Amino acid sequence: MEGLISKVKQNKQIDFVLTDRHRSDLELLLNGGFFPLDTFNNENDYNLILDKMELSDGTIWPIPITLDLTSKFINDNSIKVGSILSLREKEGFLNATLKISEIWKIDKAREANSVYGTNDRKHPGVSYLYDVMGDYYISGDLTKIALPKHYDYTELRHSPKQLKEKFKQMKWDKVVAFQTRNPMHQAHKEIALKAANDSNANLLIHPVVGPTKPGDIDHFTRVRCYKKILKYFPENSSFLSLLPLAMRMAGPREALWHALIRKNYGCTHIVVGRDHAGPGNDSEGKPFYGAYDAQDLMLKYEHRIGIKMVPFKMMVYAKNRSDYIELDKVTKDDETLNISGSQLREKLVKGEDIPDWFTYTEIVDELRRVYPKKDKQGFTIFFTGLSGSGKSTIANGLVIRLKEYGKRKVTLLDGDIVRTHLSSELGFSKEHREINIKRIGFVASEITKNGGIAICAPIAPYEESRSFNREIISNGGAYIEVFVSTPLSKCEERDTKGLYAKARSGELKGFTGIDDPYEKPKNPEIEVDTVGVTPDESIQTIIDYLDGNGFI
Ligand code: PPS
Repeated sequence: MEGLISKVKQNKQIDFVLTDRHRSDLELLLNGGFFPLDTFNNENDYNLILDKMELSDGTIWPIPITLDLTSKFINDNSIKVGSILSLREKEGFLNATLKISEIWKIDKAREANSVYGTNDRKHPGVSYLYDVMGDYYISGDLTKIALPKHYDYTELRHSPKQLKEKFKQMKWDKVVAFQTRNPMHQAHKEIALKAANDSNANLLIHPVVGPTKPGDIDHFTRVRCYKKILKYFPENSSFLSLLPLAMRMAGPREALWHALIRKNYGCTHIVVGRDHAGPGNDSEGKPFYGAYDAQDLMLKYEHRIGIKMVPFKMMVYAKNRSDYIELDKVTKDDETLNISGSQLREKLVKGEDIPDWFTYTEIVDELRRVYPKKDKQGFTIFFTGLSGSGKSTIANGLVIRLKEYGKRKVTLLDGDIVRTHLSSELGFSKEHREINIKRIGFVASEITKNGGIAICAPIAPYEESRSFNREIISNGGAYIEVFVSTPLSKCEERDTKGLYAKARSGELKGFTGIDDPYEKPKNPEIEVDTVGVTPDESIQTIIDYLDGNGFI
Protein backbone atom coordinates (compact mmCIF):
# COMPACT_ATOMS: atom_id res chain seq x y z
CA MET A 1 0.00 0.00 0.00
CA GLU A 2 2.76 2.41 0.98
CA GLY A 3 4.56 1.60 -2.27
CA LEU A 4 1.43 2.43 -4.25
CA ILE A 5 0.99 5.77 -2.47
CA SER A 6 4.57 6.82 -3.14
CA LYS A 7 4.16 5.82 -6.79
CA VAL A 8 0.99 7.91 -7.11
CA LYS A 9 2.77 10.82 -5.41
CA GLN A 10 5.74 10.49 -7.70
CA ASN A 11 3.54 10.58 -10.79
CA LYS A 12 1.51 13.59 -9.67
CA GLN A 13 1.38 15.98 -12.60
CA ILE A 14 2.82 19.42 -12.08
CA ASP A 15 1.36 22.37 -13.96
CA PHE A 16 3.81 24.33 -16.03
CA VAL A 17 2.66 27.50 -17.79
CA LEU A 18 4.28 27.92 -21.18
CA THR A 19 5.88 31.19 -22.27
CA ASP A 20 5.01 32.46 -25.76
CA ARG A 21 8.26 30.98 -27.05
CA HIS A 22 7.66 27.57 -25.43
CA ARG A 23 4.16 27.58 -26.86
CA SER A 24 5.37 28.26 -30.41
CA ASP A 25 8.11 25.65 -30.08
CA LEU A 26 5.67 23.12 -28.72
CA GLU A 27 3.22 23.72 -31.57
CA LEU A 28 5.93 23.03 -34.15
CA LEU A 29 7.15 19.96 -32.26
CA LEU A 30 3.60 18.61 -32.15
CA ASN A 31 2.57 19.46 -35.71
CA GLY A 32 5.70 18.22 -37.48
CA GLY A 33 7.10 21.67 -38.29
CA PHE A 34 10.30 20.77 -36.40
CA PHE A 35 10.59 17.25 -37.85
CA PRO A 36 12.64 15.11 -37.03
CA LEU A 37 12.31 16.53 -33.51
CA ASP A 38 9.33 15.21 -31.56
CA THR A 39 10.24 16.59 -28.15
CA PHE A 40 12.49 19.22 -26.60
CA ASN A 41 16.21 18.47 -27.12
CA ASN A 42 17.97 16.11 -24.76
CA GLU A 43 21.41 17.06 -23.47
CA ASN A 44 23.30 15.02 -26.03
CA ASP A 45 21.47 16.55 -29.01
CA TYR A 46 21.68 19.98 -27.40
CA ASN A 47 25.47 19.71 -27.19
CA LEU A 48 25.73 18.46 -30.75
CA ILE A 49 23.54 21.32 -32.00
CA LEU A 50 25.74 23.84 -30.23
CA ASP A 51 29.00 22.31 -31.46
CA LYS A 52 28.16 20.95 -34.91
CA MET A 53 24.59 21.99 -35.80
CA GLU A 54 23.72 18.29 -35.89
CA LEU A 55 21.49 15.79 -34.09
CA SER A 56 22.86 12.45 -32.90
CA ASP A 57 21.77 10.74 -36.14
CA GLY A 58 23.81 13.24 -38.17
CA THR A 59 20.80 15.29 -39.38
CA ILE A 60 21.44 19.02 -39.64
CA TRP A 61 19.69 21.05 -36.94
CA PRO A 62 21.06 24.50 -36.09
CA ILE A 63 18.88 25.91 -33.28
CA PRO A 64 18.33 24.25 -29.87
CA ILE A 65 14.67 23.64 -29.07
CA THR A 66 14.71 23.55 -25.32
CA LEU A 67 12.40 23.71 -22.34
CA ASP A 68 13.84 25.83 -19.53
CA LEU A 69 12.81 25.87 -15.87
CA THR A 70 13.83 28.30 -13.15
CA SER A 71 15.58 26.92 -10.05
CA LYS A 72 12.65 28.31 -8.04
CA PHE A 73 10.14 26.25 -10.04
CA ILE A 74 12.35 23.17 -9.66
CA ASN A 75 12.66 23.65 -5.88
CA ASP A 76 9.05 24.68 -5.23
CA ASN A 77 7.75 21.64 -7.10
CA SER A 78 10.51 19.17 -6.16
CA ILE A 79 11.13 18.50 -9.84
CA LYS A 80 13.28 15.47 -10.55
CA VAL A 81 13.80 12.82 -13.19
CA GLY A 82 10.48 10.98 -13.42
CA SER A 83 8.33 14.05 -12.64
CA ILE A 84 5.54 14.69 -15.12
CA LEU A 85 4.80 18.25 -16.25
CA SER A 86 1.42 19.34 -17.61
CA LEU A 87 2.33 21.91 -20.25
CA ARG A 88 -0.40 24.52 -20.26
CA GLU A 89 -1.14 27.74 -22.08
CA LYS A 90 -1.54 30.90 -19.99
CA GLU A 91 -5.31 30.41 -20.02
CA GLY A 92 -4.87 26.95 -18.48
CA PHE A 93 -5.52 24.96 -21.65
CA LEU A 94 -3.54 21.68 -21.56
CA ASN A 95 -1.36 21.07 -24.62
CA ALA A 96 0.87 18.16 -23.62
CA THR A 97 2.57 16.30 -20.83
CA LEU A 98 6.30 15.80 -20.50
CA LYS A 99 7.80 12.98 -18.49
CA ILE A 100 11.18 14.27 -17.41
CA SER A 101 14.14 12.04 -18.16
CA GLU A 102 16.93 14.63 -18.05
CA ILE A 103 17.64 17.86 -16.19
CA TRP A 104 20.81 19.87 -16.75
CA LYS A 105 22.14 23.30 -15.92
CA ILE A 106 22.47 25.74 -18.79
CA ASP A 107 25.88 27.14 -19.67
CA LYS A 108 24.43 30.37 -21.05
CA ALA A 109 27.70 31.91 -22.21
CA ARG A 110 28.45 28.78 -24.24
CA GLU A 111 24.99 28.67 -25.79
CA ALA A 112 25.07 32.39 -26.64
CA ASN A 113 28.47 32.09 -28.33
CA SER A 114 27.58 28.94 -30.26
CA VAL A 115 24.10 29.85 -31.45
CA TYR A 116 24.36 33.64 -31.77
CA GLY A 117 28.13 34.04 -32.14
CA THR A 118 28.12 36.65 -29.35
CA ASN A 119 27.53 37.23 -25.66
CA ASP A 120 26.37 40.80 -26.25
CA ARG A 121 23.01 41.30 -24.55
CA LYS A 122 22.02 43.82 -27.20
CA HIS A 123 21.28 40.69 -29.25
CA PRO A 124 17.61 39.87 -28.56
CA GLY A 125 18.32 36.12 -28.54
CA VAL A 126 21.14 36.56 -26.04
CA SER A 127 19.17 38.87 -23.78
CA TYR A 128 16.25 36.41 -23.86
CA LEU A 129 18.61 33.60 -22.88
CA TYR A 130 20.09 35.52 -19.95
CA ASP A 131 17.14 37.58 -18.76
CA VAL A 132 14.03 35.52 -19.49
CA MET A 133 15.04 31.87 -19.51
CA GLY A 134 15.48 29.78 -16.37
CA ASP A 135 18.75 28.12 -15.41
CA TYR A 136 17.92 24.49 -16.21
CA TYR A 137 16.82 22.56 -19.27
CA ILE A 138 14.70 19.44 -19.14
CA SER A 139 13.81 16.81 -21.66
CA GLY A 140 11.77 13.64 -21.83
CA ASP A 141 8.86 12.00 -23.61
CA LEU A 142 6.24 14.40 -24.85
CA THR A 143 2.61 13.30 -25.08
CA LYS A 144 0.33 15.45 -27.18
CA ILE A 145 -3.04 16.40 -25.72
CA ALA A 146 -4.09 19.23 -28.04
CA LEU A 147 -2.33 21.82 -30.18
CA PRO A 148 -2.14 25.37 -28.83
CA LYS A 149 -5.34 27.25 -29.61
CA HIS A 150 -5.46 30.19 -32.02
CA TYR A 151 -8.47 32.41 -32.46
CA ASP A 152 -7.01 34.84 -34.99
CA TYR A 153 -6.80 34.31 -38.74
CA THR A 154 -7.70 30.64 -38.39
CA GLU A 155 -8.35 30.42 -42.14
CA LEU A 156 -4.69 31.32 -42.78
CA ARG A 157 -3.14 28.80 -40.40
CA HIS A 158 -2.05 25.41 -41.71
CA SER A 159 -0.11 22.52 -40.27
CA PRO A 160 2.66 21.03 -42.45
CA LYS A 161 0.27 18.23 -43.40
CA GLN A 162 -2.52 20.62 -44.36
CA LEU A 163 -0.19 22.82 -46.36
CA LYS A 164 1.27 19.88 -48.25
CA GLU A 165 -2.29 18.75 -48.98
CA LYS A 166 -3.11 22.25 -50.31
CA PHE A 167 -0.09 22.20 -52.61
CA LYS A 168 -1.17 18.81 -53.89
CA GLN A 169 -4.71 20.04 -54.56
CA MET A 170 -3.35 23.06 -56.43
CA LYS A 171 -0.93 20.77 -58.29
CA TRP A 172 2.05 22.77 -57.10
CA ASP A 173 5.08 20.53 -57.23
CA LYS A 174 7.64 23.29 -56.72
CA VAL A 175 7.07 25.88 -54.03
CA VAL A 176 9.34 28.71 -52.98
CA ALA A 177 8.85 30.02 -49.44
CA PHE A 178 9.13 33.71 -48.64
CA GLN A 179 9.93 34.20 -44.96
CA THR A 180 9.10 37.56 -43.37
CA ARG A 181 8.51 39.29 -40.04
CA ASN A 182 7.82 42.72 -41.56
CA PRO A 183 5.12 44.25 -43.71
CA MET A 184 5.81 43.59 -47.40
CA HIS A 185 6.39 46.41 -49.86
CA GLN A 186 7.14 46.64 -53.60
CA ALA A 187 10.74 45.44 -53.21
CA HIS A 188 9.63 42.31 -51.34
CA LYS A 189 6.98 41.62 -53.92
CA GLU A 190 9.59 41.90 -56.68
CA ILE A 191 11.95 39.53 -54.88
CA ALA A 192 9.23 36.98 -54.14
CA LEU A 193 7.91 37.01 -57.71
CA LYS A 194 11.36 36.86 -59.25
CA ALA A 195 12.31 33.99 -56.93
CA ALA A 196 9.24 32.05 -58.04
CA ASN A 197 9.89 32.78 -61.74
CA ASP A 198 13.60 31.94 -61.55
CA SER A 199 12.95 28.60 -59.88
CA ASN A 200 9.87 27.89 -61.99
CA ALA A 201 7.90 27.48 -58.80
CA ASN A 202 4.80 28.81 -57.09
CA LEU A 203 5.07 31.11 -54.12
CA LEU A 204 4.26 30.58 -50.46
CA ILE A 205 4.22 33.80 -48.46
CA HIS A 206 5.01 32.37 -45.05
CA PRO A 207 5.22 35.14 -42.44
CA VAL A 208 6.17 34.43 -38.87
CA VAL A 209 3.36 35.26 -36.45
CA GLY A 210 4.90 33.92 -33.22
CA PRO A 211 7.22 36.14 -31.16
CA THR A 212 9.66 38.00 -33.45
CA LYS A 213 12.15 40.78 -32.70
CA PRO A 214 10.97 42.97 -29.81
CA GLY A 215 9.56 46.19 -31.26
CA ASP A 216 8.36 44.60 -34.51
CA ILE A 217 4.99 45.60 -35.90
CA ASP A 218 2.22 43.46 -34.39
CA HIS A 219 1.15 40.52 -36.52
CA PHE A 220 -2.47 41.71 -36.85
CA THR A 221 -1.31 44.77 -38.77
CA ARG A 222 1.16 42.73 -40.77
CA VAL A 223 -1.40 40.13 -41.79
CA ARG A 224 -3.76 42.88 -42.98
CA CYS A 225 -0.83 44.17 -45.09
CA TYR A 226 -0.04 40.69 -46.49
CA LYS A 227 -3.67 40.18 -47.48
CA LYS A 228 -3.61 43.51 -49.27
CA ILE A 229 -0.39 42.90 -51.19
CA LEU A 230 -1.51 39.41 -52.19
CA LYS A 231 -3.99 41.01 -54.60
CA TYR A 232 -1.05 42.36 -56.60
CA PHE A 233 0.44 38.94 -57.28
CA PRO A 234 -0.59 37.07 -60.45
CA GLU A 235 -3.70 34.99 -59.85
CA ASN A 236 -3.19 31.43 -58.58
CA SER A 237 0.56 31.99 -58.31
CA SER A 238 0.78 32.63 -54.59
CA PHE A 239 -0.56 31.43 -51.29
CA LEU A 240 -0.51 33.04 -47.84
CA SER A 241 -0.10 30.94 -44.70
CA LEU A 242 0.94 31.98 -41.20
CA LEU A 243 3.80 30.30 -39.34
CA PRO A 244 3.54 30.22 -35.52
CA LEU A 245 7.33 30.23 -35.10
CA ALA A 246 9.23 31.99 -32.30
CA MET A 247 12.18 33.67 -33.99
CA ARG A 248 15.61 33.89 -32.31
CA MET A 249 17.18 36.42 -34.70
CA ALA A 250 20.14 34.07 -35.04
CA GLY A 251 21.09 35.21 -38.57
CA PRO A 252 22.94 32.45 -40.48
CA ARG A 253 21.90 29.56 -38.17
CA GLU A 254 18.36 30.84 -38.24
CA ALA A 255 18.33 30.90 -42.07
CA LEU A 256 19.26 27.22 -42.11
CA TRP A 257 16.56 26.51 -39.53
CA HIS A 258 13.95 28.45 -41.53
CA ALA A 259 14.85 26.35 -44.55
CA LEU A 260 14.41 23.05 -42.68
CA ILE A 261 11.07 24.19 -41.30
CA ARG A 262 9.86 25.22 -44.78
CA LYS A 263 10.90 21.84 -46.13
CA ASN A 264 8.68 20.29 -43.47
CA TYR A 265 5.84 22.50 -44.72
CA GLY A 266 6.26 21.11 -48.25
CA CYS A 267 8.44 23.79 -49.86
CA THR A 268 11.22 22.99 -52.30
CA HIS A 269 12.93 26.41 -52.22
CA ILE A 270 13.38 29.29 -49.79
CA VAL A 271 14.33 32.90 -50.43
CA VAL A 272 17.32 34.07 -48.42
CA GLY A 273 17.96 37.77 -48.82
CA ARG A 274 20.25 40.33 -47.28
CA ASP A 275 20.88 39.91 -43.52
CA HIS A 276 18.33 37.11 -43.13
CA ALA A 277 16.93 37.03 -39.55
CA GLY A 278 19.52 39.65 -38.56
CA PRO A 279 19.10 41.44 -35.21
CA GLY A 280 20.74 44.73 -36.28
CA ASN A 281 23.77 46.25 -34.59
CA ASP A 282 25.67 45.22 -31.46
CA SER A 283 26.42 47.47 -28.51
CA GLU A 284 29.36 48.96 -30.40
CA GLY A 285 27.18 49.82 -33.38
CA LYS A 286 28.57 47.06 -35.62
CA PRO A 287 26.24 44.55 -37.36
CA PHE A 288 26.05 41.21 -35.54
CA TYR A 289 26.31 39.32 -38.83
CA GLY A 290 27.67 40.13 -42.27
CA ALA A 291 24.94 41.00 -44.79
CA TYR A 292 25.38 37.73 -46.70
CA ASP A 293 26.65 35.39 -43.95
CA ALA A 294 23.30 33.58 -43.98
CA GLN A 295 23.57 32.90 -47.71
CA ASP A 296 27.14 31.61 -47.26
CA LEU A 297 26.09 29.17 -44.55
CA MET A 298 23.10 28.02 -46.59
CA LEU A 299 25.36 27.37 -49.59
CA LYS A 300 27.58 25.20 -47.43
CA TYR A 301 24.74 23.04 -46.18
CA GLU A 302 22.24 23.18 -49.04
CA HIS A 303 23.19 19.73 -50.33
CA ARG A 304 22.50 18.18 -46.91
CA ILE A 305 19.12 19.70 -46.10
CA GLY A 306 16.88 18.83 -49.05
CA ILE A 307 15.65 22.34 -49.84
CA LYS A 308 17.24 24.86 -52.20
CA MET A 309 18.09 28.45 -51.49
CA VAL A 310 17.08 31.27 -53.81
CA PRO A 311 19.58 33.96 -52.83
CA PHE A 312 18.88 37.65 -53.27
CA LYS A 313 21.04 40.70 -52.98
CA MET A 314 19.47 43.85 -51.63
CA MET A 315 16.90 45.35 -54.04
CA VAL A 316 16.87 49.04 -54.89
CA TYR A 317 14.58 51.07 -57.10
CA ALA A 318 16.18 52.41 -60.26
CA LYS A 319 14.27 55.57 -61.09
CA ASN A 320 15.53 55.75 -64.66
CA ARG A 321 14.35 52.18 -65.32
CA SER A 322 11.15 52.50 -63.23
CA ASP A 323 12.05 49.09 -61.89
CA TYR A 324 13.70 47.27 -59.01
CA ILE A 325 17.17 45.82 -59.50
CA GLU A 326 19.61 43.98 -57.27
CA LEU A 327 22.24 46.27 -55.79
CA ASP A 328 25.11 44.44 -57.53
CA LYS A 329 23.47 45.06 -60.95
CA VAL A 330 23.40 48.82 -60.51
CA THR A 331 25.43 50.66 -63.20
CA LYS A 332 26.81 54.16 -63.11
CA ASP A 333 23.86 55.32 -65.23
CA ASP A 334 21.31 54.23 -62.66
CA GLU A 335 19.67 56.64 -60.30
CA THR A 336 18.69 54.45 -57.36
CA LEU A 337 16.24 55.10 -54.56
CA ASN A 338 15.68 53.28 -51.31
CA ILE A 339 13.80 53.86 -48.05
CA SER A 340 15.05 51.96 -45.00
CA GLY A 341 12.78 50.71 -42.22
CA SER A 342 13.77 53.54 -39.89
CA GLN A 343 13.39 56.16 -42.63
CA LEU A 344 9.91 54.81 -43.33
CA ARG A 345 8.95 55.10 -39.67
CA GLU A 346 10.29 58.63 -39.57
CA LYS A 347 8.28 59.61 -42.64
CA LEU A 348 5.11 58.09 -41.17
CA VAL A 349 5.57 59.86 -37.84
CA LYS A 350 6.15 63.16 -39.62
CA GLY A 351 3.06 62.55 -41.73
CA GLU A 352 5.13 62.74 -44.95
CA ASP A 353 4.07 61.14 -48.25
CA ILE A 354 5.30 57.63 -48.99
CA PRO A 355 6.04 57.26 -52.73
CA ASP A 356 4.19 54.72 -54.89
CA TRP A 357 7.41 53.10 -56.08
CA PHE A 358 8.02 52.06 -52.47
CA THR A 359 4.67 50.61 -51.44
CA TYR A 360 0.91 50.52 -52.01
CA THR A 361 -1.47 53.13 -50.55
CA GLU A 362 -3.52 50.44 -48.74
CA ILE A 363 -0.35 49.38 -46.91
CA VAL A 364 0.57 52.97 -46.05
CA ASP A 365 -2.93 53.41 -44.57
CA GLU A 366 -2.39 50.38 -42.31
CA LEU A 367 1.04 51.60 -41.21
CA ARG A 368 -0.17 55.11 -40.48
CA ARG A 369 -2.38 53.58 -37.81
CA VAL A 370 0.65 51.93 -36.16
CA TYR A 371 2.89 54.99 -36.53
CA PRO A 372 0.59 57.98 -36.11
CA LYS A 373 1.97 61.49 -36.35
CA LYS A 374 3.72 62.59 -33.17
CA ASP A 375 0.84 64.79 -32.02
CA LYS A 376 -1.46 61.76 -32.09
CA GLN A 377 0.95 59.28 -30.46
CA GLY A 378 0.68 58.26 -26.84
CA PHE A 379 3.55 59.10 -24.51
CA THR A 380 4.74 58.62 -20.95
CA ILE A 381 6.42 61.27 -18.86
CA PHE A 382 8.37 59.36 -16.26
CA PHE A 383 9.55 61.51 -13.35
CA THR A 384 12.28 60.09 -11.14
CA GLY A 385 14.00 61.68 -8.16
CA LEU A 386 14.38 61.61 -4.39
CA SER A 387 11.47 61.84 -2.00
CA GLY A 388 10.71 65.54 -1.57
CA SER A 389 12.46 66.50 -4.82
CA GLY A 390 9.26 68.02 -6.20
CA LYS A 391 8.14 65.21 -8.54
CA SER A 392 4.53 65.14 -7.39
CA THR A 393 4.10 68.91 -7.44
CA ILE A 394 5.39 69.20 -11.01
CA ALA A 395 3.52 66.08 -12.14
CA ASN A 396 0.21 67.36 -10.77
CA GLY A 397 0.71 70.75 -12.41
CA LEU A 398 1.65 69.11 -15.70
CA VAL A 399 -1.51 67.00 -15.64
CA ILE A 400 -3.60 70.18 -15.42
CA ARG A 401 -1.73 71.85 -18.28
CA LEU A 402 -2.13 68.77 -20.52
CA LYS A 403 -5.82 68.45 -19.63
CA GLU A 404 -6.34 72.11 -20.52
CA TYR A 405 -4.63 71.40 -23.83
CA GLY A 406 -6.97 68.43 -24.43
CA LYS A 407 -6.65 66.05 -27.43
CA ARG A 408 -5.49 63.04 -25.37
CA LYS A 409 -6.62 61.45 -22.11
CA VAL A 410 -4.16 61.96 -19.22
CA THR A 411 -3.55 59.50 -16.35
CA LEU A 412 -1.48 60.33 -13.27
CA LEU A 413 0.46 57.46 -11.68
CA ASP A 414 2.01 59.26 -8.72
CA GLY A 415 4.16 57.25 -6.25
CA ASP A 416 1.65 57.48 -3.43
CA ILE A 417 -1.38 56.85 -5.69
CA VAL A 418 0.25 53.71 -7.07
CA ARG A 419 1.20 52.44 -3.64
CA THR A 420 -2.43 52.84 -2.53
CA HIS A 421 -4.17 51.31 -5.54
CA LEU A 422 -1.74 49.12 -7.43
CA SER A 423 1.03 48.07 -5.03
CA SER A 424 -0.59 48.22 -1.60
CA GLU A 425 1.01 44.93 -0.52
CA LEU A 426 4.56 46.05 -1.38
CA GLY A 427 7.23 47.50 0.90
CA PHE A 428 10.52 49.24 0.09
CA SER A 429 12.98 46.36 -0.32
CA LYS A 430 14.92 46.38 -3.62
CA GLU A 431 12.79 43.51 -4.88
CA HIS A 432 9.52 45.23 -4.02
CA ARG A 433 10.59 48.56 -5.46
CA GLU A 434 11.53 46.82 -8.74
CA ILE A 435 8.10 45.18 -8.86
CA ASN A 436 6.41 48.49 -8.09
CA ILE A 437 8.27 50.36 -10.83
CA LYS A 438 7.71 47.62 -13.39
CA ARG A 439 3.99 47.61 -12.59
CA ILE A 440 3.90 51.35 -13.21
CA GLY A 441 5.78 50.74 -16.45
CA PHE A 442 3.31 48.10 -17.53
CA VAL A 443 0.27 50.33 -16.90
CA ALA A 444 2.01 53.30 -18.57
CA SER A 445 2.91 51.17 -21.60
CA GLU A 446 -0.75 50.15 -22.01
CA ILE A 447 -1.89 53.78 -21.77
CA THR A 448 0.83 54.91 -24.20
CA LYS A 449 0.13 52.12 -26.69
CA ASN A 450 -3.51 53.15 -26.76
CA GLY A 451 -2.68 56.78 -27.54
CA GLY A 452 -3.00 58.30 -24.04
CA ILE A 453 -0.63 60.22 -21.81
CA ALA A 454 0.73 58.60 -18.63
CA ILE A 455 2.41 60.82 -16.07
CA CYS A 456 4.38 58.70 -13.58
CA ALA A 457 6.07 60.09 -10.48
CA PRO A 458 7.65 57.39 -8.33
CA ILE A 459 11.14 57.65 -6.83
CA ALA A 460 12.26 54.84 -9.20
CA PRO A 461 15.77 54.70 -7.73
CA TYR A 462 17.21 51.88 -9.87
CA GLU A 463 18.50 52.09 -13.42
CA GLU A 464 17.51 48.52 -14.25
CA SER A 465 13.78 48.98 -13.76
CA ARG A 466 13.82 52.41 -15.42
CA SER A 467 15.44 50.99 -18.56
CA PHE A 468 13.00 48.09 -18.50
CA ASN A 469 10.19 50.63 -18.56
CA ARG A 470 11.87 52.69 -21.26
CA GLU A 471 11.97 49.60 -23.45
CA ILE A 472 8.38 48.43 -23.00
CA ILE A 473 6.90 51.92 -23.19
CA SER A 474 8.86 53.01 -26.29
CA ASN A 475 7.45 50.03 -28.18
CA GLY A 476 4.04 51.72 -28.28
CA GLY A 477 4.90 55.43 -28.20
CA ALA A 478 7.37 57.77 -26.55
CA TYR A 479 9.10 57.49 -23.17
CA ILE A 480 10.25 60.81 -21.78
CA GLU A 481 12.30 60.57 -18.61
CA VAL A 482 12.40 63.64 -16.36
CA PHE A 483 15.12 63.57 -13.73
CA VAL A 484 14.11 65.83 -10.85
CA SER A 485 17.64 66.41 -9.64
CA THR A 486 16.95 68.50 -6.52
CA PRO A 487 19.91 67.66 -4.21
CA LEU A 488 19.47 65.48 -1.16
CA SER A 489 20.33 68.35 1.21
CA LYS A 490 17.41 70.39 -0.16
CA CYS A 491 14.97 67.43 -0.05
CA GLU A 492 16.01 66.78 3.52
CA GLU A 493 15.61 70.43 4.44
CA ARG A 494 12.06 70.40 3.02
CA ASP A 495 11.19 67.07 4.68
CA THR A 496 7.48 67.66 4.07
CA LYS A 497 6.49 64.25 5.39
CA GLY A 498 9.02 64.13 8.24
CA LEU A 499 10.45 60.92 6.76
CA TYR A 500 14.07 62.08 6.44
CA ALA A 501 14.13 62.86 10.17
CA LYS A 502 12.84 59.37 10.89
CA ALA A 503 15.40 57.86 8.50
CA ARG A 504 18.26 59.79 10.12
CA SER A 505 17.19 58.69 13.58
CA GLY A 506 17.07 55.09 12.40
CA GLU A 507 13.33 54.77 13.02
CA LEU A 508 12.77 54.29 9.25
CA LYS A 509 15.09 51.83 7.52
CA GLY A 510 16.06 51.62 3.82
CA PHE A 511 15.14 55.20 2.98
CA THR A 512 16.24 56.37 -0.47
CA GLY A 513 19.22 58.69 -0.33
CA ILE A 514 19.93 57.90 3.33
CA ASP A 515 20.53 54.19 3.67
CA ASP A 516 19.24 53.00 0.28
CA PRO A 517 20.83 54.09 -3.02
CA TYR A 518 19.47 56.41 -5.68
CA GLU A 519 21.11 55.67 -9.04
CA LYS A 520 21.10 58.87 -11.10
CA PRO A 521 19.63 58.51 -14.62
CA LYS A 522 22.35 58.42 -17.27
CA ASN A 523 20.51 60.01 -20.19
CA PRO A 524 17.23 61.59 -19.09
CA GLU A 525 15.36 63.49 -21.79
CA ILE A 526 14.84 66.37 -19.36
CA GLU A 527 16.50 67.38 -16.08
CA VAL A 528 14.91 69.83 -13.64
CA ASP A 529 16.39 71.03 -10.37
CA THR A 530 13.66 72.68 -8.33
CA VAL A 531 16.03 74.79 -6.21
CA GLY A 532 15.30 78.46 -6.87
CA VAL A 533 12.76 77.60 -9.57
CA THR A 534 8.98 77.82 -9.26
CA PRO A 535 6.88 74.72 -10.06
CA ASP A 536 5.37 76.65 -12.99
CA GLU A 537 8.83 77.19 -14.47
CA SER A 538 9.66 73.48 -14.19
CA ILE A 539 6.33 72.59 -15.80
CA GLN A 540 7.05 75.04 -18.61
CA THR A 541 10.41 73.34 -19.29
CA ILE A 542 8.54 70.10 -19.90
CA ILE A 543 5.83 71.75 -22.00
CA ASP A 544 8.56 73.36 -24.13
CA TYR A 545 10.16 69.95 -24.67
CA LEU A 546 6.83 68.44 -25.74
CA ASP A 547 6.13 71.34 -28.04
CA GLY A 548 9.62 71.38 -29.52
CA ASN A 549 9.45 67.66 -30.26
CA GLY A 550 6.06 67.75 -31.92
CA PHE A 551 4.08 65.95 -29.19
CA ILE A 552 1.70 68.85 -28.60
S1 PPS B 1 9.83 53.47 -5.24
O1 PPS B 1 11.20 53.28 -4.72
O2 PPS B 1 9.85 54.19 -6.51
O3 PPS B 1 9.08 52.22 -5.28
O4 PPS B 1 9.15 54.45 -4.18
P1 PPS B 1 7.75 55.20 -4.29
O5 PPS B 1 6.69 54.21 -4.55
O6 PPS B 1 7.82 56.33 -5.23
O7 PPS B 1 7.61 55.77 -2.82
C1 PPS B 1 6.47 56.50 -2.50
C2 PPS B 1 6.57 57.21 -1.18
O8 PPS B 1 6.87 56.30 -0.14
C3 PPS B 1 7.42 57.02 0.98
N1 PPS B 1 8.41 56.11 1.59
C4 PPS B 1 9.67 55.88 1.20
N2 PPS B 1 10.44 56.40 0.22
C5 PPS B 1 11.69 55.93 0.07
N3 PPS B 1 12.24 55.00 0.85
C6 PPS B 1 11.52 54.44 1.85
N4 PPS B 1 12.07 53.50 2.61
C7 PPS B 1 10.18 54.87 2.05
N5 PPS B 1 9.21 54.55 2.94
C8 PPS B 1 8.13 55.31 2.63
C9 PPS B 1 7.99 58.29 0.41
O9 PPS B 1 7.28 59.34 1.05
C10 PPS B 1 7.64 58.25 -1.09
O10 PPS B 1 6.97 59.41 -1.52
P2 PPS B 1 7.56 60.69 -2.24
O11 PPS B 1 6.35 61.27 -2.91
O12 PPS B 1 8.63 60.33 -3.20
O13 PPS B 1 8.05 61.56 -1.12
